[in-house]
Amino acid sequence: MQIEEKFEPTIVAFCCNWCSYAGADLSGTNRLQYPANVKIIRVPCSCRVNPMFILRAFQRGADGVILCGCHPGDCHYTTGNYYARRRMTLLFSMLDFLGIERERTRLEWVSAAEGAKFAATMNDFVETVTRLGKNRRLEDLRCNK
Ligand code: FES
Repeated sequence: MQIEEKFEPTIVAFCCNWCSYAGADLSGTNRLQYPANVKIIRVPCSCRVNPMFILRAFQRGADGVILCGCHPGDCHYTTGNYYARRRMTLLFSMLDFLGIERERTRLEWVSAAEGAKFAATMNDFVETVTRLGKNRRLEDLRCNK
């Protein structure tokens, strides 16, 4: 009898220091659960994330990448999240062009007071990526050592 292993996706979450990371912290403080396969990378602002970071994460074995930042108008650096939003829009259309499922990448605004939203977003994103299965298109097999 063959035992089927449940697919556990690897999720990379880039969170801005001032809102989303604090939101993640709050969800932990409030004991709200989100899957342990979400790996958080704290960045100073969502605009610090170059689209190449996201492609690199996919190349290195991530199955889904989410970028979380402050709500529009709330960025600690005034307009950083507007830049991030524009970059992500371009990245989404490039991923569409390449035939990569758009659902593997997401942009979300999570404030420091939205711990529940952070947990709900992560649960939903992990569920979506689990449904899509393993990322094989952008994975670089040389990184699988
Ligand atoms: Fe949070 Fe800029 S500081 S998005």
